[in-house]
Amino acid sequence: MNKVDSLKKVIKNLTYVALGVASLVVVVFIIHVINVGKYNAEWRVVTPDSTATQVMVDIHPRGGVTDSWVKNNSGLGVNLNAKIYEMVINNNTHTYVEDWVLRINIIDDCYLNNGWCGAFEVHQFGKNGAEVSQMIDLRDFKYSDITLDYRQAGQDLLIPLSSGDYMIYHPDTSGVSGEVPIKGTPELSSSIVCGIIMYSISGDVDFSDYELSYRLHKSVWEGARGKIFMAAFAFIALSFIILGTIFFVSVRFEEKIVNQNKVMTDVFKVCCGLADSRDYYSKEHSERVAQYSRMIADKMGMDKGDCDIVYNAALLHNVGNAFVNEQILRKKGKLTREEYAEVKRHTERGAEILKDVENIPLVKEAALYHHERFDGTGYPFGKKEDEIPLIARIIAVADAYDAMNNDRPYRPKLIREQIREEFIKNRGSQFDPEIVAAFLDVMGERNL
Ligand SMILES: [Fe+2]
Repeated sequence: MNKVDSLKKVIKNLTYVALGVASLVVVVFIIHVINVGKYNAEWRVVTPDSTATQVMVDIHPRGGVTDSWVKNNSGLGVNLNAKIYEMVINNNTHTYVEDWVLRINIIDDCYLNNGWCGAFEVHQFGKNGAEVSQMIDLRDFKYSDITLDYRQAGQDLLIPLSSGDYMIYHPDTSGVSGEVPIKGTPELSSSIVCGIIMYSISGDVDFSDYELSYRLHKSVWEGARGKIFMAAFAFIALSFIILGTIFFVSVRFEEKIVNQNKVMTDVFKVCCGLADSRDYYSKEHSERVAQYSRMIADKMGMDKGDCDIVYNAALLHNVGNAFVNEQILRKKGKLTREEYAEVKRHTERGAEILKDVENIPLVKEAALYHHERFDGTGYPFGKKEDEIPLIARIIAVADAYDAMNNDRPYRPKLIREQIREEFIKNRGSQFDPEIVAAFLDVMGERNL
């Protein structure tokens, strides 16, 4: 496996890991989003008895009673004193109070006169116990619209309230008054102040019975978990960008290598073509042997890079023939002992030619050892079994197949079954039995 293939394999495995981690993070994040949604949907309640201090209510008079606020109204028959009451909602949650509703239960007799921020939903229970309620905005009110029991004191509208009645204060949701949401930040809590003007005989209205309902709005990115998710998504995105970039660069690099290999292969084909052309019967022999060798390598489970190396090395296995006497190569009759010795030298001559080729793997081994036999009876060294490089053992089988599958001066080509029998008969002696097994499979699959 070449370095680019190794790198691509590493990238592929890292991509699987990154996808696995990303999937896990997304699943956990979805659960987190659901939980935050539930948290935000929950209505929480604060009463005077509440011990929780995240959101607090404080209703207090803004100033004292003044003469200008005293109403000596003959219509009512009593003097009433007015006071402004501030209703303060403090948000100490460090997140938004998304929405809120404040219910104030009336304890003593009093009159609602005016207010700002939002609208009042006033509930009156008359003397006969029947409930009358109306949503009114005291900032913009028309007498003709009122259905509640009310009194008119000069220009003022007074809505009488007594024990059992209640008011529900709805904040302005238009965003104009800034009553919702009530912001909260990790550094700073915040509050809103609303107000109402109330009349009573004593001038003091008891607001100690109230109930504030509110919903929080937490962002999914808030808090430690939110920060962790943010960091995780950033890390995952960065990982994919880096992996994608490396993959892109490696593909471009591989394209370059493929192009260089094509050039190299073309040069090899020219070389082996020159060598083969000297022997009429060996025309295109090396090209075919290279193809069969690659089929065997592929069948034996080698990756594409190694199969290409086998193919290129096999192309040059007989390059030494370029230096063998052409008359001997083309001789149709039986070779003399000297002539055969001359032919056998093509292995060492091929290796000699290729001795300085350092950056192309296995070409020397292919040329030098492809006539060695598995049992040690081959040439030029009589090496056997694993002493013979694998490339040479592969070429030996491919070379023999091509020889048997073509006419020779001394015999016609063999039929398919004869070739199979020859391989079976000579496995373990001439040929590596594992390579024979692989090639017999190739013959069957490719109908050779
Ligand atoms: Fe040869």
